[in-house]
Amino acid sequence: MTGIVQRKSDHIDIVLNEDVSMSTPTGFGGYRFVHQALPEIAFDDVTTDTEFLGHALGAPLLISSMTGGNEEAGKINRNLAEAAAQLRIPMAVGSQRVLIERPDALESFRAAREAASGVPLFGNIGAVQLNKGVTADDIQRTIDLLGADGIFLHLNPLQEIVQAGGDTDFSGLLDKIELLVDRLDCPVLIKEVGCGVDPALAARLAEVGVAAVDVSGAGGTSWASIEARRATDEGQRRLGEVFSDWGIPTVECLTGARAAAPELPLIASGGVKTGLDVAKAVTLGADLAGFAMPLLKPASISAEAVVEHLEQILYELRAAMFLTGADSLASLKANRHRLLP
Ligand SMILES: Cc1cc2nc3c(=O)[nH]c(=O)nc-3n(C[C@H](O)[C@H](O)[C@H](O)COP(=O)(O)O)c2cc1C
Repeated sequence: MTGIVQRKSDHIDIVLNEDVSMSTPTGFGGYRFVHQALPEIAFDDVTTDTEFLGHALGAPLLISSMTGGNEEAGKINRNLAEAAAQLRIPMAVGSQRVLIERPDALESFRAAREAASGVPLFGNIGAVQLNKGVTADDIQRTIDLLGADGIFLHLNPLQEIVQAGGDTDFSGLLDKIELLVDRLDCPVLIKEVGCGVDPALAARLAEVGVAAVDVSGAGGTSWASIEARRATDEGQRRLGEVFSDWGIPTVECLTGARAAAPELPLIASGGVKTGLDVAKAVTLGADLAGFAMPLLKPASISAEAVVEHLEQILYELRAAMFLTGADSLASLKANRHRLLP
């Protein structure tokens, strides 16, 4: 395996076999819904249908970026994509940088496109690559190769400084993101990887025309912990441990970004675990809630295991809606006063 494929494979092994969750709370636990003893709706009438960037969806969920590159990654992507298609929800693949260096890695990404027929599929690449010679044409090519409906650019400054040989020049990137938004013929979405996007950045990203922001805040997967486990340099290992809980909690990112950029489509991810979390995220202004780590284990087993996991989340989401008297996501948002800090 080449360096980049090996690194991706290490990430999967570490997340599957070790505890790399942050101890920082997401903030969802700080809110509770006001129970409606008389909801005045039928549970069977509760629907989670929604819309995101012009796509009709069965639920406000996103299968967040995880992997691609080798056969194992191809299997995981296919299982995730089959589940996305069954539940009519969007999916994002993991970083496609490997494709620029290794065109033979394409199969592991195409597996997702084939299986995710009829639902939006998003590509992914690190924004920092724009400072490493990767051009708008290169990115357009990765989008076309995947047949993607949009591309996530990830921001991961903490991960890059803990990683051996990481790409750490994040200067001038906002201007480059703005140019990219103009050049590409599909939506550009921005995401963090678990340390969060602060409200001022969300507002600036909305101004430069990005289609959506996934705040990917603190409270879930800790990339500093993952990279600390891979580090061979003692200083980087220590750095990863010291910063393992670093970041802005997901709910703080979400409420701040919603206030700073009222019209910007927002995704809440980073430690989202249950359908009750999803209900709170939607009520607090998220268009979708994203899941990465919780889906990795089921995805390493089968598409059915992923569907089963997500169906439980939908059951919990519909329960929260029923118990707050909301038969639609619009009505859940309109009942904002029923979610108390
Ligand atoms: C195994 C694994 C691989 C990931 N790979 C990527 C990636 O290639 N690109 C990216 O933008 N985010 C990547 N992420 C980050 C997730 O998309 C997400 O932002 C983050 O893990 C927080 O969500 P979670 O707490 O539900 O895991 C990865 C996460 C996991 C668990």
